[in-house]
Amino acid sequence: MSVNVKDFGIENMPEAVLEEYGAKTKDPRTREIMLSLITHLHSFVKDVKPTEEEWFKAITFLTAVGHKCDDVRQEFILLSDTLGVSSLVDSINHDRSGVGTENTVLGPFYVPGSPEMEMGSSIVQKATEEGETAVANGTVYDNNGNPLAGAVLDVWQSSSEGFYHMQDENMPDFNLCGRFTTGEDGKYIFVTEKPAAYPIPTDGPVGDMLNACGRHPMRPGHLHFIITAPGYDRLVTHIFTNGDEYLDSDTVFATKSSLVGEYKETNDEALASELNIESPFLKVDFDFTLMPS
Ligand SMILES: [Fe+2]
Repeated sequence: MSVNVKDFGIENMPEAVLEEYGAKTKDPRTREIMLSLITHLHSFVKDVKPTEEEWFKAITFLTAVGHKCDDVRQEFILLSDTLGVSSLVDSINHDRSGVGTENTVLGPFYVPGSPEMEMGSSIVQKATEEGETAVANGTVYDNNGNPLAGAVLDVWQSSSEGFYHMQDENMPDFNLCGRFTTGEDGKYIFVTEKPAAYPIPTDGPVGDMLNACGRHPMRPGHLHFIITAPGYDRLVTHIFTNGDEYLDSDTVFATKSSLVGEYKETNDEALASELNIESPFLKVDFDFTLMPS
């Protein structure tokens, strides 16, 4: 039996590859994604015309990204973040149409299981030397402007030294993390440290990439939130620290002007005593609006 040998080469790429995947991929969404991926990837390769050494370097880089991942380090999320793709995927999926609080990236340092806390608690288990006491305070609203009861705020941030709890073995687990549930008034309040700018980890292939491209690894200071309530779209967002020098050059392209919170020095003795902190202290007032799912 004779078989006609197919000719594959630059003349019929990507058409020949698209034809094969287009004909054989049954699931419509998988087909759509694969055909687009092949089209763009071939276009990229034809544009760049990599040498074989360069192509192998790309494969070695992606292999190193995978090898750097473990239970607490997610180098692929860092790669997606630093190429602006996480922020783009986030924007595509969470258009709040100017009503709801804007989403931003989850980042690679979220760990589920933060301790549940009473309103007014401190999420600081171990204070850092430079840390300035700050109170985060506000109300969670629904899209009609009514306070939302039963909203869960999952909060986490890095220390003033720039590390999340899982990155620093001297820090207790879930230091600077907590979960708070709103009551009928929709209000939240907790004590923390003013978040400082920090570098994303640069001891892996993503750090090498940033270095090769002359980019700094810094993120402006921010408090992370995931806010959920039954019947509402999950809000993944930050409160960025006003005045931070990296607000105009976030290394993961995730800043939004609507998410900047102002940390103001406050002389509220009554509140300080209620929260068991010294006055004056910093306070950031920031409200959130959830959209129905
Ligand atoms: Fe972060």
